[in-house]
Amino acid sequence: MMRGSREETVRLASGFRMPLIGLGTHRLAGKECVRAVRTAMSLGYRHIDTAEMYANEEDIGRAIRGHDRAGLFITSKVWRTHLRRRSLIRSCRASLGRLGTPYLDLYLVHWPDRSVPIKETLAAMKELVAQGLVRSIGVSNFGPSLLQEALKASDIPITNDQVEFHPYLYQRELLAFSKRNGVTMTAYCPVAKGTVFRDPVLSEIGVRHGKTASQVSLRWLLQHGLAAIPKSGNPAHMRENMDVFGWRLSAAEMRRMDSLGTSRRLISPAFTGLPYFVLNAAQRALTLARAGSRGRSRA
Ligand SMILES: NC(=O)c1ccc[n+]([C@@H]2O[C@H](COP(=O)([O-])OP(=O)(O)OC[C@H]3O[C@@H](n4cnc5c(N)ncnc54)[C@H](OP(=O)(O)O)[C@@H]3O)[C@@H](O)[C@H]2O)c1
Repeated sequence: MMRGSREETVRLASGFRMPLIGLGTHRLAGKECVRAVRTAMSLGYRHIDTAEMYANEEDIGRAIRGHDRAGLFITSKVWRTHLRRRSLIRSCRASLGRLGTPYLDLYLVHWPDRSVPIKETLAAMKELVAQGLVRSIGVSNFGPSLLQEALKASDIPITNDQVEFHPYLYQRELLAFSKRNGVTMTAYCPVAKGTVFRDPVLSEIGVRHGKTASQVSLRWLLQHGLAAIPKSGNPAHMRENMDVFGWRLSAAEMRRMDSLGTSRRLISPAFTGLPYFVLNAAQRALTLARAGSRGRSRA
């Protein structure tokens, strides 16, 4: 049973509860990752976000070994080149092997790939649920029209859409659509990669509450009904990012933050038309090669 008060978790359409604050782990690897995840758990984090593409599932597996699995919520994601049925099932099994866990709490399609029918991908995810390897399924980086297609194509609930969301990228339309359709949302880059820290509006609001700009950003997300997965390897930041319950932004403060921005996107991989992916191509190729050989040896 997932620990944490009702205020600190959200019920997914699958019936399971997800902690609203999780630890993002992109770019955490090796000993730094093991240390960060252990520190986070000691500070009360129960939700850990990873992906086959982050090349850190083994490190996370090391960090959680011996920990009460039922008290954790682990999300992983299948990369967009693995969305065919056989490939997806192999990817999931390989992720489970690296994490050293019998099941994932949430398994997401990391990015869409229009060349694979979404129905095939979601049917494979349903098989994983039926086999007890995955508890809840979802998507990531799906806008309203893709999410609608996924909802139509799936026989089981799409429980979550993980997208970039912060005060400079207020995705109002997608949020409203998700709420109407019972899909929870998780914000990635929830502190805009640390840049909210320098924001005068967020800092001014924070001073009124005795909180930092990062906490104000996370609180804004929570009050809009989103979960958030701030990445940090710094124990002081981790502690700060967890201290976002038991206080509230006023309606006027929420409105002020709602008007900060709707278009500053920080993550734009090349397959969506911009250079991020190219910069990381070598690391990704290595990760995929490793994932492929492990997956094959387990299949
Ligand atoms: N689904 C997807 O396609 C996707 C894409 C991107 C990210 N994600 C997930 O979302 C997670 C979070 O996104 P992100 O890592 O890109 O960005 P983020 O969480 O917005 O920002 C992380 C950066 O902010 C700093 N930071 C964190 N808390 C802070 C605080 N309280 N005060 C000051 N600085 C702070 C961190 O530095 P320190 O380490 O020094 O604290 C780090 O440099 C990722 O790690 C990953 O798990 C998913």
